[in-house]
Amino acid sequence: MTKFEYASMLYKNPRSIGCDKCHGNLGEKTLITEYKHKGIQKQLYAPDITKISFENFKKVFSKNTKIMPKYFFTDKEIQELYYYIQEVNK
Ligand code: HEC
Repeated sequence: MTKFEYASMLYKNPRSIGCDKCHGNLGEKTLITEYKHKGIQKQLYAPDITKISFENFKKVFSKNTKIMPKYFFTDKEIQELYYYIQEVNK
């Protein structure tokens, strides 16, 4: 398995719901779902993660996010995930 294959696997199949389910294959801004709230049509998006710095990328994993699930990654795994996003958007 190459470094890229490993990183891609981690992105699509971490020990919980895959990142691609919400952020898409490339980490671009992605529509998760649409719903109606008090008669108003709303959209729920996963943010674009293709242009953020590694520092900002890393932060999300120690935050209490509203929608994104909690993952328990090692620093190395976070680096792999970031690597995947960079490679796939080349
Ligand atoms: C259930 C949908 C969902 C899944 C699965 C998911 N995310 Fe997210 N992600 C979000 C949403 C929505 C946000 C915005 C913060 C919030 O409201 O939770 C976010 C925020 C982020 C951010 C911060 C972006 C910024 O601008 O600060 C990063 C980085 C990120 N996600 C990466 C990932 C990675 C990598 C995975 C897989 C390990 C993943 N996400 C899985 C929905 C998801």
